[in-house]
Amino acid sequence: MPHVKPRHIVIDTDPGIDDAIGILLALASPEFSIAGITTVAGNIGIDTTTRNAGRLLAFAGQHDIPVFEGAAAPLSRPGPAPLNLHGKDGIGGVALPAPARPPESRPAVEWLADLLLSEPAGSVDIFALGPLTNVARLVLDHPDAAKRIGRIIAMGGVIAEAGNVGPRSEFNLWADPEAADAVVSSGLLLVLVPLDVTRRVRATRDFTAALSASGKPLASMVADLIESYFETSTHQESRPLHDPCVMLFALAPDLFRLENLRLSVGTGPTEEAGALTVDENGAPVQVAMGVDGPAALELLARTLAAF
Ligand code: RIB
Ligand code: CA
Repeated sequence: MPHVKPRHIVIDTDPGIDDAIGILLALASPEFSIAGITTVAGNIGIDTTTRNAGRLLAFAGQHDIPVFEGAAAPLSRPGPAPLNLHGKDGIGGVALPAPARPPESRPAVEWLADLLLSEPAGSVDIFALGPLTNVARLVLDHPDAAKRIGRIIAMGGVIAEAGNVGPRSEFNLWADPEAADAVVSSGLLLVLVPLDVTRRVRATRDFTAALSASGKPLASMVADLIESYFETSTHQESRPLHDPCVMLFALAPDLFRLENLRLSVGTGPTEEAGALTVDENGAPVQVAMGVDGPAALELLARTLAAF
């Protein structure tokens, strides 16, 4: 197998149980070189999402990856209340160590802009797992840096199904619709991974039992994270792995079916906030609209067990 140079990525995240699974998957994947993790408020407040990013890196022994604290609130709206789904500590109460080091002193967006200006254009991708506030700030305040992004792969939105926080609204875009609008209409290369596919990558208890049986530390931790997801949900047969689908798409795009859609983002009152409309006057976005769910789960399990 010819050696392929790892892809430089930044993970922008609000961990969050499913974020945590995506982060551990990225840490287990030699295909990625993580330049840093930038945090955003979303599933829970910024102090907790930032601490959880540090805890995950400490657990995985990745002490050289820096964490940068990002937006504590959306661009122009009040932030969402913490989601009970992720537990009081935002990470399902699983046993993680304390961060091995504090977050960096530089604000996330400033660091991200400098990184993009210092690396070759197009060589850094952003994996966005939460509200798009940080990415929008980069686009709005540092356009010369933003245009050097390779691509943004973002978990967010819903196209042809019901939303998870409103009839047509998904949490990440609903939490900061103005940010989502800025990113979608930025003209940057954006791959959106919406609920239409993430709901088809579902972990069952048999899946978590197999992860635990591997005896490998990251696989066992992901099993614990998914089990905690079961505890905080009424849905007891399976749980959707929303954010890990971003990493799974980057690792194996052939497992997904992309459609080129023109989208506009609802920035109206609460009900429609973050809703996506397919609109011929909208911005061009590559949207994952199909996935081989079982194969994606198998890739997740195989990657974690190999670490
Ligand atoms: O709608 C799912 C998204 O909202 C995921 O990113 C989850 O972590 C929450 O942030
Ligand atoms: Ca998330």
